[in-house]
Amino acid sequence: EMASEPVARAVAEEVARWGGMRQTGVSLRYMTEFGARPTERNLLLSAQFLHKELPIRIARRALDLDSLPFGLSHKPAVLKVRDWYLDSFRDIRYFPEVSNQDDELAFTQMIKMIRVRHTNVVPTMALGVQQLKKDLGGTKAFPSGINEIHQFLDRFYMSRIGIRMLIGQHVALHDPDPEPGVIGLINTRLSPMLVARLASEDARAICMREYGSAPDVNIYGHPDFTFPYVTIHLHLMMFELVKNSLRAVQERFMNSDKHAPPVRIIVADGAEDVTIKISDEGGGIPRSGLPRIFTYLYSTAEHPPDLDGHNGVTMAGYGYGLPISRLYARYFGGDLQIISMEGYGMSILHFICLCKGVLKSA
Ligand SMILES: Nc1ncnc2c1ncn2[C@@H]1O[C@H](COP(=O)(O)OP(=O)(O)OP(=O)(O)O)[C@@H](O)[C@H]1O
Ligand SMILES: [Mg+2]
Repeated sequence: EMASEPVARAVAEEVARWGGMRQTGVSLRYMTEFGARPTERNLLLSAQFLHKELPIRIARRALDLDSLPFGLSHKPAVLKVRDWYLDSFRDIRYFPEVSNQDDELAFTQMIKMIRVRHTNVVPTMALGVQQLKKDLGGTKAFPSGINEIHQFLDRFYMSRIGIRMLIGQHVALHDPDPEPGVIGLINTRLSPMLVARLASEDARAICMREYGSAPDVNIYGHPDFTFPYVTIHLHLMMFELVKNSLRAVQERFMNSDKHAPPVRIIVADGAEDVTIKISDEGGGIPRSGLPRIFTYLYSTAEHPPDLDGHNGVTMAGYGYGLPISRLYARYFGGDLQIISMEGYGMSILHFICLCKGVLKSA
């Protein structure tokens, strides 16, 4: 089409311009303080900030998607993701100035829609990487440059967490009747014990569905202990780790007459950090696999789920659970570590470390 070419060029120029601007970080503390007074005026300020900030972050991602090594940029799945970013960039850039409450509500609807559009970015990118992995003949050889892809994906997903946090927080501040202590996506009195229980129940339900039974999960810690954190982030991390543990224990014990040992979760409240330890006796990770568990290409799952199958969440799929969980931990300054212990029932220890009362902007 003749007419669309100049348009495409104009958009490309806009993307390049916005992608080169500096992004502004927002800390958990700032979001908490600002969101504590979700007045009409504050919501308007927040929308005006996002109207400027989101196109910068989204354009940056679209540019990155265009310059990946090994021809990853040209994989159909990656092109699809790139188009989502371009569509969202256009939606925001074509949205007129946000100057009153009606504009603000319309803007909020629009970014809510953008968040939905991008829901499947991670599995779709995974599909692209999967296609590349096939082209390269598997990852056994680990060609140099795979590292580059890994680092790109880490940056890309980290940025995605930030964009979704900003949109999610703005949208959630419109809740007319939040629970006490809840400010948007942040729960200032989050109980890690409670999140551990809910995430474990979710993971066990999937294990039940897939195997017909599930190991127990025992949770230890002070039930009254709370700290400020983003509930969905902690839930996601705990869900992924418990799911891995359940799978390992289930696979190891399902054909034995021994009772499957429980997965253990211990919540420890330290002076500066909250540490959550998750341990299982599911056989551990072979030494040869350990350096690769945090890469986006390592999984021992037999059949990666296919995107069109819509078979929902499965016990294991692309090998994304661990690297993504670690990004969530790091997003607000924490970390995720794994130790594989031979000799003690071949077990795995995970530590999620989260900063208290904080601070970090991303
Ligand atoms: N607790 C554990 N015990 C033994 N092996 C584990 C454990 N946790 C992870 N692994 C190994 O590390 C691999 C990568 O885990 P990861 O959660 O990143 O991906 P996955 O579980 O394969 O797929 P998904 O993306 O669905 O999580 C797993 O396939 C498994 O081989
Ligand atoms: Mg997993």
